[in-house]
Amino acid sequence: MGNCWFKNLSIRRVSSSLKIESPQVQSPREEKEKEISKLPSNAKEVEDLRKEAAGNPLETFTFSELKLITADFKNSVGIGGFGRVYAGFITENLKKGLQPQRVAVKVHDAENSFQGHREWLAEVIFLGQLSHPNLVKLIGYCCEDEHRVLVYEFMDKGNVESLLFSRALGCLPWGIRMKIAFDAAKGLAFLHDAEKPIIYRDFKTSNILLDNDYNAKLSDFGLAKNGPVGDISHVSTRIMGTCGYAAPEYLKTGHLTAMSDVYSFGVVLLEFLTGKRSLDKCRPAGEQTLVDWAGPYLTKRQRVFAIVDPKLGKNYPEKAAQRVAWLASHCLNHNLKARPLMRDVVVSLESLQVAV
Ligand SMILES: Nc1ncnc2c1ncn2[C@@H]1O[C@H](COP(=O)(O)OP(=O)(O)O)[C@@H](O)[C@H]1O
Ligand SMILES: [Mg+2]
Repeated sequence: MGNCWFKNLSIRRVSSSLKIESPQVQSPREEKEKEISKLPSNAKEVEDLRKEAAGNPLETFTFSELKLITADFKNSVGIGGFGRVYAGFITENLKKGLQPQRVAVKVHDAENSFQGHREWLAEVIFLGQLSHPNLVKLIGYCCEDEHRVLVYEFMDKGNVESLLFSRALGCLPWGIRMKIAFDAAKGLAFLHDAEKPIIYRDFKTSNILLDNDYNAKLSDFGLAKNGPVGDISHVSTRIMGTCGYAAPEYLKTGHLTAMSDVYSFGVVLLEFLTGKRSLDKCRPAGEQTLVDWAGPYLTKRQRVFAIVDPKLGKNYPEKAAQRVAWLASHCLNHNLKARPLMRDVVVSLESLQVAV
C-alpha cells in the first residue's frame, strides 16, 4: 500500500495499514520511558494487577514453553505493529489443566519496546477481564525478561482484511459480510455498554478475526482505553489509530469517545459495501479516501448501486445495500452526537441477516 500523510502527524507503519500518533501531545522519549517504567513490568506485578481487576484466569507461559508450542516460531500467520503472530499447538502434557488446543502466539518485536509494553499490558488487562462470543479469547501471556508475548485461541480463517480484499480468494459473499458486521457490532456494543465502558480505538478489518464458521471476533486490544464516566464527555489521549478509519474530531482534538469507534465502524461498513479499502493511494485522486469518495452516493437511494462492490455482481439484495449505505452514512456523521449507539447499530444489522 502507498503512503499516507496526515498534516502534523508522525506515522508508523503497520502491515498493510498505517498507524498514526500525534506528536503535539506526545511526551519526549525520557518522559515516555519514565511513564512506562511506572507500569507493572514483571510477571508478579502483572498478576497482582490482574487480581485487583478480578480477571479471567490466564496462563503464564515461559519463553521456552512458547518455543515448544510454536515449534520454534516456525509458522507465521500474521504481522502487525506489535510484532509477528505464529500458529502453535498446546499439547496434552504441556501444562496441567490446560486442554490441548491450537493457539496464536503474538510476539512483541523488541525494537519498538516502549510502546510495545504498554500495548501488551492493555491487552492482558482488557482481554484478561472480558469474555464475550465476539471478542477473541486470551489464553495467557509471557512476561519473562524482555519477552512480551500473548497467547490467544486460534482463529482459523484469519483476519477480515485478507478475505475481503484478496484477489486470490475470490468474492466474500454479501451474507457473510453482513454476518461479520453484525458480530463485530455486537463486540463493540458489549465494550461500550460494559459497567466500565471501554473504547476499542482501532476498529478495522485487520483486527476482526474469523473462526471456521465465519464467527467474527475483535482482537488486538493494544489501543483500548477506559471510556469517560459520569458527566465527563470524553477522555483525552495521544492520537492513536489507523489512517482512513479514525474519526475526524478525534484526529483534530485527541478527544476520544465511544462515537470514535462508531465512526470507524461506518468506515468498515463502507468497505463491505464497496469492496474498496478505506485508504488507497493507488486509486485516482478524489477516490483515495473511501469516505470522501463514497459519501455523496450514500444518501441517494438510487445512486447507492453505483458504488456496490462490482465483485458481487447482482448477488446482493438491493434494499439491504441501500440500508447499509444509510447506516454507514449515519455512523460517519461529522456531528458525533448524531451518530447511532452501537447497540442500535446491532438492531439495524440484525434485520439484514440472511442465511449463509
Ligand atoms: N488469534 C489469532 N488467530 C489467527 N490469526 C491471528 C490471531 N491473532 C492475530 N492473528 C493474525 O495476526 C495479525 C496481526 O495481529 P494483531 O493482533 O492485529 O497484531 P497487531 O497488534 O500487531 O496489529 C492479524 O491481522 C491476523 O492476521
Ligand atoms: Mg492489529
